[in-house]
Amino acid sequence: MSELTRLPEPELMDTPEQVSAYVAADFSVPHEALVSKFAELFPDFGSGLVLDIGCGAADVTARFALRYPEARILGIDAGPEMLRVGVAHIERLGLSSRVTLEELHIPSPRLEELGAFDAFISNSLLHHLADPSALWESLKYSAPGAPVFVQDLRRPYNRQMLEALVETHTEDFAHELITDFHNSLRASYTAAEVREQLTKAGLTLTVEEVGDRHLIVYGRL
Ligand SMILES: C[S@@+](CC[C@H](N)C(=O)[O-])C[C@H]1O[C@@H](n2cnc3c(N)ncnc32)[C@H](O)[C@@H]1O
Repeated sequence: MSELTRLPEPELMDTPEQVSAYVAADFSVPHEALVSKFAELFPDFGSGLVLDIGCGAADVTARFALRYPEARILGIDAGPEMLRVGVAHIERLGLSSRVTLEELHIPSPRLEELGAFDAFISNSLLHHLADPSALWESLKYSAPGAPVFVQDLRRPYNRQMLEALVETHTEDFAHELITDFHNSLRASYTAAEVREQLTKAGLTLTVEEVGDRHLIVYGRL
């Protein structure tokens, strides 16, 4: 439970200013944590087609591709400016032969043409979605037993906790990104809300709170 009601934020954060502030921030710890936790949970995974849903500027996508040299990855995102920066990042790292980025707004029937996927990852997308079922429905296009790993912020319990998180985690952030982080925490879902979403979607996945501000959702389809 949270005393704070959810305040949605716009789905897209795609102005050039928002994108450059986001890309300039150091998210290496949570992004690397996602890849490490995936590896720990799914030690048998090594290759196949991975869908990164809401890949943004492809920082997590690239980290995942570097960890799994046998995997191919499709990153999808609705923001053209994010993707433009993401494509340049993938090219710079020499990953273009295995990593493709495509502009796609979920929910999208196009996923059926592109799947079945052998694994799914998603970081910091869920809290942007006005209708969270868009994410859970996208997991339909999977190979049997495909691993899923979703990481996002979770809504703090009360206003004091919200302010304390903003204070702790935005030391090096540009002004615009501090506001974005505040709004994102406020737009996030709680673990209990995510469990309800999964039940509604008919998915049996595990939801865990991690650290002071994240939640993870994982399992096999
Ligand atoms: C906070 S960013 C996270 C980007 C990336 N996953 C990362 O961790 O750096 C959220 C991304 O979700 C994208 N997004 C929001 N709603 C979307 C939708 N309905 N379909 C696809 N992408 C969406 C935004 O364009 C944005 O790039």
